[in-house]
Amino acid sequence: MTDLQGRLNQLRDDAPARLAASVDDAAVEAIRHELLGRSGALTSLMRELGTLPAEERPALGRLANEVRTEIEAAIATRLAEVTAGKLDARLEAERLDMTAPGAPQRIGHLHPTLSAERDFREIFHAFGFEVFEGPEIETDWWNFEALNIPPDHPARDLWDTLYVAEPGSQPPRPAEDGTILRTHTSPVQIRAMKVLTPPIRVITPGRCFRYENVAADRNFEFFQIEALVIDRETSLADLKGMLEEFARALYGSETRTRFRPGYYPFTEPSAAFDISCQVCGGVGCPVCKRTGWVTILGAGMVHPTVIRNGGYDPDEYQGYAVGFGLDRVAMNRHGVSNMRQLMSADVRFLSQFPGGR
Ligand code: PHE
Repeated sequence: MTDLQGRLNQLRDDAPARLAASVDDAAVEAIRHELLGRSGALTSLMRELGTLPAEERPALGRLANEVRTEIEAAIATRLAEVTAGKLDARLEAERLDMTAPGAPQRIGHLHPTLSAERDFREIFHAFGFEVFEGPEIETDWWNFEALNIPPDHPARDLWDTLYVAEPGSQPPRPAEDGTILRTHTSPVQIRAMKVLTPPIRVITPGRCFRYENVAADRNFEFFQIEALVIDRETSLADLKGMLEEFARALYGSETRTRFRPGYYPFTEPSAAFDISCQVCGGVGCPVCKRTGWVTILGAGMVHPTVIRNGGYDPDEYQGYAVGFGLDRVAMNRHGVSNMRQLMSADVRFLSQFPGGR
């Protein structure tokens, strides 16, 4: 056996063990370089073939080619093994148990006042009303004058108003442009009339403000929603029918209702609308002050002056308006005895009233 033959056999015998010891593709590639590269071991041996006597060359040449083919095959096999192993390792590291239960999420619910608003919306949507919103910061004209409440009129006492101060005035006096925080959602009646064309059927949810001594049943900020209809030949009967349907939809079909005369400068005639007390069923209890009835809203036929201020001829158009306090509904519904708690933003308190849609 020639020396060259011995070294070729040696290379062939050593390769499998060396490859087996290579654990990743870089190590396998290093071996490929070492054995088969341009100055690799096998390559130099093959170069030596040229120095052999001519009769020895064919046999050794064949052997060298066999060794090369074998080593190439072994490298390819090992490369496939380590690459697959790497993938397995990665899969193992990234293993996800798709059957594991998820981390629990805290899901909130609607605020009780907002939930009352949604119920109101849903009922009025069914009657074809759309939502129309106005600004919380108004001027005296929209909040009072346009609604038939002239300056210095005693009816202004019905709404204790928060005035925005004239910039720089000391002591502060009301802003010259009449900027105030709206005391009710009624100014949106005028805004709706100015923008929409009859037949108008809108509901106007929103935040209102009053200069109140904060107490259990009143707050300086609260939520109202107004319903307004402007059309030809709208009558008090329409208003009455609408409210009766509304009360039964919101409080249940057993609910009894009554109309009482009321007073608002922007409606004529005006009414207070009562429902049978939800707590005692109408027999009389502290909640209804032993009358069996609870007033839930104010309403009336829109005053001709208001129709005119909205841009319409009161001989042609009539309508009705309804003003509804949403916080009171939330309180009655959940037996909340202090209105301030509704505004407290205290999750420990509010989370007691889930179920808002
Ligand atoms: N705006 C009135 C209030 O806040 C309620 C109301 C609205 C009454 C619409 C009649 C018609 O007191």
